[in-house]
Amino acid sequence: MRTPIIAGNWKLNKNRAEAEVLAKGVVEAVKDAKGVEVILCPVFTALETVARVVAGTNVKLGAQDVYWEETGAFTGEVSGSLLKDIGCTYVIVAHSERRQFFGETNETANKKVKAVLKNGLTPILCVGETLAEREAGKMEAVVSAHVRHGLVGLSVAELEQIVIAYEPVWAIGTGKTATPQQAQDVHALIRSLLKEIGGETVAAKMRIQYGGSVKPDNVKELMAQPDIDGALVGGASLKADSFAALVKF
Ligand code: 13P
Repeated sequence: MRTPIIAGNWKLNKNRAEAEVLAKGVVEAVKDAKGVEVILCPVFTALETVARVVAGTNVKLGAQDVYWEETGAFTGEVSGSLLKDIGCTYVIVAHSERRQFFGETNETANKKVKAVLKNGLTPILCVGETLAEREAGKMEAVVSAHVRHGLVGLSVAELEQIVIAYEPVWAIGTGKTATPQQAQDVHALIRSLLKEIGGETVAAKMRIQYGGSVKPDNVKELMAQPDIDGALVGGASLKADSFAALVKF
């Protein structure tokens, strides 16, 4: 009932020429993939290039961040309507790297989620604890706060659109994947929070991706968990063959 969703977060990688080659490689490799949503999230400067490559294919375009105001004196920012204009359908919100290095908070995450929805785009709201938080027994409190505050003030119809990405910070780029059981436990926790927030139907519809060192050799086991509906992928999305292998889990 929930369509799996595999998204490549290219982070700060790939100029336009490189992005074009990678996007073309992905499009070719996943052209027969069915029953799975495939999304590429390049840097802002390569969005137009990738938009052209994926137009008319089964691959969709996403951005890595957004600002919540539409226009005005906000030097350096990009709005939801501009992302829509360039062809995005998804926007990653509050990735842990944004929280860690750029001052993203649960409050700014919530404003961004709302701005993305207002433009008819789908937010991918990232949540997840650091290693220190997990070791201090705070995982549940941190993840709950990310989910609850990130989703404040949304209607049932809006909640249903949203994708949550659980990315334990200690698993990102470290090669240390959460075990399928560890990931499933947190996904089940998130789904129970979604039930409290929006009710049973909403919780059953919302997709929860796992992210953190997802690779072709661990994707299958992760995707076999009942509450894991997809993957948000960094490193392994930077090569067409490994990303395509994930899509074909
Ligand atoms: P890696 O797949 O490189 O661990 O990155 C995960 C991530 O942060 C995706 O958003």
